Amino acid sequence: MARTLLHTIPPTTAARPAAAPTRTATRRSYLMCRPEYFTVSYAINPFMHPDEPTDTALAVRQWDALRDVYRGLGHEVEFLAPVPGLVDMVFAANGGFTVDGRAYLASFAYPERRPEADSFRAWFAAHGFETHEPASVNEGEGDFAFAGGVILAGHGFRSTADSHTELARVFGREVLSLRLVDERFYHLDVALTVLDSAATGGPARIAYLPSAFDEAGQALLAQRFPDSIIVSEQEAAILALNSVSDGRNVVVAQDAHDYIAALAGAGYTPVPVDLSELLKSGGGVKCVSQELRR
Ligand code: ARG
Repeated sequence: MARTLLHTIPPTTAARPAAAPTRTATRRSYLMCRPEYFTVSYAINPFMHPDEPTDTALAVRQWDALRDVYRGLGHEVEFLAPVPGLVDMVFAANGGFTVDGRAYLASFAYPERRPEADSFRAWFAAHGFETHEPASVNEGEGDFAFAGGVILAGHGFRSTADSHTELARVFGREVLSLRLVDERFYHLDVALTVLDSAATGGPARIAYLPSAFDEAGQALLAQRFPDSIIVSEQEAAILALNSVSDGRNVVVAQDAHDYIAALAGAGYTPVPVDLSELLKSGGGVKCVSQELRR
């Protein structure tokens, strides 16, 4: 089949209209925690205003809709039980990072979130993961992303650079360390999305906001991911980049119009959702979804 195709490809494709490549979805598993106790009662990022009202029931409805979107796309959703008083526990991405059935556990930067770590530890241990205790402060998949064999890792606001050394040791993979420099983009997952983690063999592809990174980080990303989607600061500020891709479908904040158009133009299928209530805590689609890689 491949041989036949090779012989039918014309010598030059320069005159053809550029067609978006076909993207391939792979089935994913996500860990989620229902926002039954969600509110904003402290401020540990610039989005959070404890004196402004929140609507827990609306947060739950928006979260339920996202869960149903994942199921509709054929993905598996697993659940961590929410704990009364742990208002940020819905942001399940922060509770750990998994690759190859190993879970590197979180050690939260702020005392308000530290008690969450026990629930995540127990969950991973009970669900067949080999758990690795962290020696360094890190917020799991909030700051770590798996991109085609390499791990992208952010530091500067929450996770420490030391945690990147631990990551490399735990997973035995290359870690690209990136310094975050804008307090609005305090986690890697609000500054960068992995669109295609190369599960199907091609190169990994990302979308990101260059100005969220220091100069060295910008240079590294440009060099390693030349074929990226660049997102505006304005859309990144509504957490456009806090999106979740299965290689083809990209679940994304519904108001990120330019990013949604760019995704469609690049052959992805944008799946817009509304998580406006969780945005009040500085979280979006990706923050509430930790991918489980067994
Ligand atoms: N209020 C939460 C915090 O500041 C939001 C966490 C968002 N999670 C994420 N993966 N970016 O910790």
